[in-house]
Amino acid sequence: MKLSRREALNAMAMGAVATRLAAAPQDAAEQDRARRMRWWHEAKFGMFIHWGLYSVLGRHEWVMENEGIPVPEYEKLADRFRPKPNAARDWARLAKQAGMKYMVMTSKHHEGFCLFDSKNTNYCAPKQACGRDLVKEYFDAARAEGLRVGLYYSLMDWHHPDGARCGRDEAARERFVEYTQGLVGELCTNYGKLDILWYDVAWPLDAEGWESAEMNRMVREVQPDIILNNRSKLPEDFGTPEQRIVPEKEGRAWEACMTMNDSWGYHAADDAWKSPKEIVRNLVRCARDGGNYLLNIGPKPDGSIPEESVRILTAVGRWMDRNGHTIYGAERCRVNRSQFANFTRKGNTLYIHVHFWPGEELSIGGLSSEVKSARLLATGKNVPFQQERFRVRFTGLPARAPDSPVSVLAVECASEPRQDTMGIRDDRPRT
Ligand code: GLC
Repeated sequence: MKLSRREALNAMAMGAVATRLAAAPQDAAEQDRARRMRWWHEAKFGMFIHWGLYSVLGRHEWVMENEGIPVPEYEKLADRFRPKPNAARDWARLAKQAGMKYMVMTSKHHEGFCLFDSKNTNYCAPKQACGRDLVKEYFDAARAEGLRVGLYYSLMDWHHPDGARCGRDEAARERFVEYTQGLVGELCTNYGKLDILWYDVAWPLDAEGWESAEMNRMVREVQPDIILNNRSKLPEDFGTPEQRIVPEKEGRAWEACMTMNDSWGYHAADDAWKSPKEIVRNLVRCARDGGNYLLNIGPKPDGSIPEESVRILTAVGRWMDRNGHTIYGAERCRVNRSQFANFTRKGNTLYIHVHFWPGEELSIGGLSSEVKSARLLATGKNVPFQQERFRVRFTGLPARAPDSPVSVLAVECASEPRQDTMGIRDDRPRT
């Protein structure tokens, strides 16, 4: 019997994984996941990059579909997509400065244009006006800054003739799965170590239709340390709440991805920018609830980063320089009630991230662990405190916020800090 290349790879992959998991399949898989994801959990903060032909039009990455642009007309954008060399260096530098530890770039968005070299299609940057492998440049840039490298890959494809047809025609599905796995294979084999593969939109197929289990097995065979998201219609390693911060159930890993304005791709007129304070608050919330924060930039067609994004990320980076240690490696924190602060935790240390500074005194209700000491990170000074049964009052604080956009108090507790919010109701102090 003669096997196709894909079947042969598949068989190899299955063999290797089966051997690795033979002992105690569930435990071994969990242990392997914990090993692969250690750096990712520690990292907390990453940069998402949406870049493609849509950047030329500058009206959101869904412009092809939303404005009903015919394929031949859209394809011509490839003549105008000639980014400056090594644009990714600036992204990587900015990511590093902002305190981000990894990057995830669109290798192919829904428009179907590949930023990488491919034997499977001519609709790719090196074979069009651009004439360069932008994924290679991106890898080099990220590595030069010591950042981990991830690639986004859209399964949905508006350009390929089988991209939609595969949903209703078996022969088209087989061709398109072959094409998809060919491209994914190239991404996994042509650039060295790939840390994250970030699938997107599986329309019009389900996991069975995409043959996702086989595809992901092949990916892991080539990249044994890789981390996969949940958008090939299989749960895999982490969940991807989009534009919102909602922890996954049952302790599953998750990463909230978010835009800085309202578009992922470059949108020249979109001025709905988040403030550095909103970004820091979001990052803190992710870290508090055991998640990561993947924050997007949408570079212009020449690869330069919109000025507003630079301004915002630079401010966030200055804050991270001073306070990043309260974020990286933070553990799930069971303190969350306040209208002026968020919280992170490392061991028995509670970090109170105050975004609306109340003045010389601030109180946290329901802290059930004994407070040993408190320190204001911006000044390094100890903070006096009084602890009652359901309230800790921190006193002698500056009248105005000592740091911007968020000021942090480090509170050493005798045990893991927890908040007993029901206790206050049941047993409200009367005197
Ligand atoms: C959505 C959008 C897409 C964007 C992605 C990021 O799925 O279709 O444009 O790339 O979210 O999570």
